[in-house]
Amino acid sequence: MSDPRARARELARQSIAHGDVTGWFETLYAESERDGFRISWVDLEPNPYLVEWLRRRSAPPIGRAIVVGCGYGDDSELLSAAGLDVTAFDVAPSAIARCHARFPESNVRYEVADALNAPTLWQRGFDFVFEAYTVQVLTGEARRVCARSIGNFVAPGGTLLVVARSRRPGDPEGQMPWPLTRAELEAFAAPGLEMTQLEEVLEPGDPPVPRFVAEFVAGR
Ligand SMILES: C[S@@+](CC[C@H](N)C(=O)[O-])C[C@H]1O[C@@H](n2cnc3c(N)ncnc32)[C@H](O)[C@@H]1O
Repeated sequence: MSDPRARARELARQSIAHGDVTGWFETLYAESERDGFRISWVDLEPNPYLVEWLRRRSAPPIGRAIVVGCGYGDDSELLSAAGLDVTAFDVAPSAIARCHARFPESNVRYEVADALNAPTLWQRGFDFVFEAYTVQVLTGEARRVCARSIGNFVAPGGTLLVVARSRRPGDPEGQMPWPLTRAELEAFAAPGLEMTQLEEVLEPGDPPVPRFVAEFVAGR
C-alpha cells in the first residue's frame, strides 16, 4: 500500500456516497490485516494526551471507564492498568478481533458496537469516558449525534476527556480526518455535562496540527 491515508480517504468517499458513514472502517481494518499495511491512525501506543491526563492526577482514577472507537486497544489497556474497570468498543469487528489477539489476558471488555446506536445500558454508565479522534472521522449529522451519545455515557460526577483535531469556524473542512470546530466540541455537553477545561494545542509537524484536549465533568 503506497499511501494508507489515501486508501482510507477513498474508502470513506465510496462508503459515504452510498449513505453509509461507518461501513468503511471495517473495510479498511480488514484490508489492512489482509494486505499488511498500517492504517494511518494506528501507532500501537497509548494516546499521549491520555497519558498526560493520568500523570497530572493527584490520585489514581477509580470506577468504570469506556473507550470510544478503541481501534487496537492501547488506550483501553492503559486505563485498565491504571486500575479502571474498562469497556472498549469499536464499530469495526476486525479492530476488536485484533484487540483480543493482542491482549488475550486482558481485563478489558472489548465489544463491537456503534456509538451512533449504543446500548441503552451504557447511558450515564461510566465514571470516565475517553474519546480520541472518532467524531472527526464521521460526516454530516452523525458528528453531532455521536458527540451527544458519547456525552450521555458519563455517570453523575464522572469525567469525559475528548482529544480531536481542531479548526477555526472559517477554516476549510479539508479532507478526512475532518477537524472539529469549537461548536462541534460543545455538542459533547449532554444535559448536566459541562466543559471544565479546554487546551488548544498546536502539535509540531509539517504542517503543525491543531488539537482540542477538552475535559467535561457531569454534575452529581
Ligand atoms: C481515527 S480512528 C481512532 C482510533 C483510536 N481512538 C485512536 O485514537 O487511535 C477512529 C476509530 O473509531 C471507530 N469508529 C468510527 N465510527 C464509530 C462509531 N460510530 N462507533 C464506534 N466506533 C467507531 C473506527 O473504526 C476507528 O477505529
